[in-house]
Amino acid sequence: MEQTPEKWVATYEAKTPDELAEAYRCWAREYDRDTCEGMGYVGPGVAARLLDRYLDSAEAKILDAGCGTGLVGQAMRHMGYRRIEAMDYCRDMLDVAEEKRVYENVFRADMNRELTISDNAYDATICVGTFTYAHVGPDAFDELVRITRPGGYVCFTVRDGAYQEYGYRKRMLELEANNAFELKEMVDTDYLHKEDVTAKYCIYEVQEA
Ligand SMILES: C[S@@+](CC[C@H](N)C(=O)[O-])C[C@H]1O[C@@H](n2cnc3c(N)ncnc32)[C@H](O)[C@@H]1O
Repeated sequence: MEQTPEKWVATYEAKTPDELAEAYRCWAREYDRDTCEGMGYVGPGVAARLLDRYLDSAEAKILDAGCGTGLVGQAMRHMGYRRIEAMDYCRDMLDVAEEKRVYENVFRADMNRELTISDNAYDATICVGTFTYAHVGPDAFDELVRITRPGGYVCFTVRDGAYQEYGYRKRMLELEANNAFELKEMVDTDYLHKEDVTAKYCIYEVQEA
């Protein structure tokens, strides 16, 4: 097994949003190498393929929320999607994402706050690696539902340990019970395969308000 990079550990040990942003600022240029090659990070490809199975047009307008360096955008672009936007709160991660030229638009926003994005703006939102320890809390699900049109899809990963501990499961069940979104699939599979870490990959269909 490869050694877990210190810079990854720093993102889990961050105590405040500023510390987390700083950890990603320091990691941005080495993130792809450390995660994909170093830890066997397969999350972006697995989630992109899951979403692709539900979308019926390559013209779908997609938001990659918590896009980081753009690994999800690269995977979706490779599958033929062109109308992809990217959002993250770390400028340095966004800079790397923008350089890949797979997004129509790249912008900075904090997912722990209300987003200045209109209702029903996207056919799908995808969020990989961001619902996890010390990152984005479960209230962000509500915003992803709000900005995705009814009949569209919200696709995301939740790290296994954090699923119960951070209140994600509770909020997902509440949103299902309120008919905000309907579960289509939840798959527990490889995430960082060299580290033996799995995640839940979820896809929900947004319901009429
Ligand atoms: C593990 S990375 C995942 C990046 C990318 N989705 C991937 O799969 O490679 C987590 C990302 O979430 C972003 N992030 C953390 N907290 C955030 C917040 N409150 N709002 C928006 N982005 C956030 C970080 O800047 C980082 O780019």
